[in-house]
Amino acid sequence: MASEPTELTAYEGEATIEKVASLGRRRGFVYPSSDIYGGLGSAYDYGHYGVLLKDNVKGAWKRSMIQEREDMVALDSAVILNPEVWIASGHVGGFSDPLVDCRTCKLRFRADHLETSSCGKRPSKRPGESPDCDLTEARSFNLMFETHIGAVADSASAAYLRPETAQGIFINFKNVTSSLRVKPPFGIAQIGKSFRNEITPGNFLFRMREFEQMEMEYFVPPAEAEEWYRYWIAERYRWYTGLGIRTSHLRIRAHDPDELSHYSSGTSDIEYLFPIGWSELEGIANRGDFDLRAHTERSGQKLEWIGHEERYVPYVIEPAAGADRAALAFLVDAYDEEEIEGRPRTVLRLHPRIAPVKAAVLPLVGNDAALVEKARGLFEDLRTHMTTEYDDSAAIGKRYRRQDEIGTPWALTIDHESLNDGQVTLRDRDTLQQERIAIEGVRALLLDRLEAPWSPRL
Ligand code: GAP
Repeated sequence: MASEPTELTAYEGEATIEKVASLGRRRGFVYPSSDIYGGLGSAYDYGHYGVLLKDNVKGAWKRSMIQEREDMVALDSAVILNPEVWIASGHVGGFSDPLVDCRTCKLRFRADHLETSSCGKRPSKRPGESPDCDLTEARSFNLMFETHIGAVADSASAAYLRPETAQGIFINFKNVTSSLRVKPPFGIAQIGKSFRNEITPGNFLFRMREFEQMEMEYFVPPAEAEEWYRYWIAERYRWYTGLGIRTSHLRIRAHDPDELSHYSSGTSDIEYLFPIGWSELEGIANRGDFDLRAHTERSGQKLEWIGHEERYVPYVIEPAAGADRAALAFLVDAYDEEEIEGRPRTVLRLHPRIAPVKAAVLPLVGNDAALVEKARGLFEDLRTHMTTEYDDSAAIGKRYRRQDEIGTPWALTIDHESLNDGQVTLRDRDTLQQERIAIEGVRALLLDRLEAPWSPRL
């Protein structure tokens, strides 16, 4: 009988959060925000390759959630909503973390994360473990960022930056059902920025105060909720593995009853084994009819499904993912260091659809007009179909290494032979194998490979 594979307890691989952040900065993926002013805690700016990478993550999500389905519509709701929304949703009353301060080291900790936090004075111990620690009682800290609308900043003008995109979807239930051809089971999908005044942000893109969410609310007949809950757990797991995330670094963890949010009758996290340990990548929750009922009560507008012979308040299944956290997981999973012919190589083995640049066109030398012309021709042909780079700036080995570090799956080298036989050398980032192919076939071949199944491990 086949035995169950044992679950990994610690990250196995070359990546650390520090190495990925350092490569990210060096190669123009992610910079610390407000850098010239000394930075701003846990805020990051995406550079050129980071923008392309995160766009690919969001594009892959939209493709699987919207384009490839008939039961889904898109939405882009406002960041600042009527404050009533956040009263109805429970965020004003309850979106808070328990906080403790240490009077000795002046640091602040989440009371429910003390086991995994480090004491400020004795980093080998947890807060409260050493006799010097002097922790306050836990108090509640609301995570919403408050702002004011209009010229006068008083309590009547107070508003909030949204802490999740989900509520924008619930409050548009009536608009969507009355303007679009939808019928339960159906979903509304949205990607957008959310803001949380996290007490203990950190670990690079993992926990930030300003981040992007990819959320979908799936409205179903109540009797079908459990079945759709299971369906979406499996579907979202498949999305990550389909884009190359190692199954040994991915698991599904059902929340214990005492962990559940106030709105949820069941939640499962898809967790990724980051170098910091198993952590939430995405949560899939059965929210029941909590949100539609709460907004019906507060707004006085009935939010229900009215069919030909039926009328009911749908239940909601919510897969809620983070675009930045997913981008970090893809980077960590892809990061590899190895030695090739005695020289170190750092490579991002990203799925070609996630990779910021798909192809690099490289003339063998940059000072030969005929090679440059041929290479530019291929570059112009490819760039309208996929993100492509042209580079003739340094020795060919150095240019390969640069593309390896940004995760470009295919490099195309034009040499003197290419001028005679009309072929280029196609170098594969992962196998390092080189093959000669006809220049006119390059575009079709790469477009085919972009759609083909792909696995990160050779
Ligand atoms: N509507 C439900 C909801 O917002 P959540 O678990 O709080 O659920 C969903 O957030 C996802 O958003 C998380 O799984 C994570 O990927 C991402 N996320 C949440 N807080 C984040 C933060 N401070 N920084 C980066 N990503 C975050």
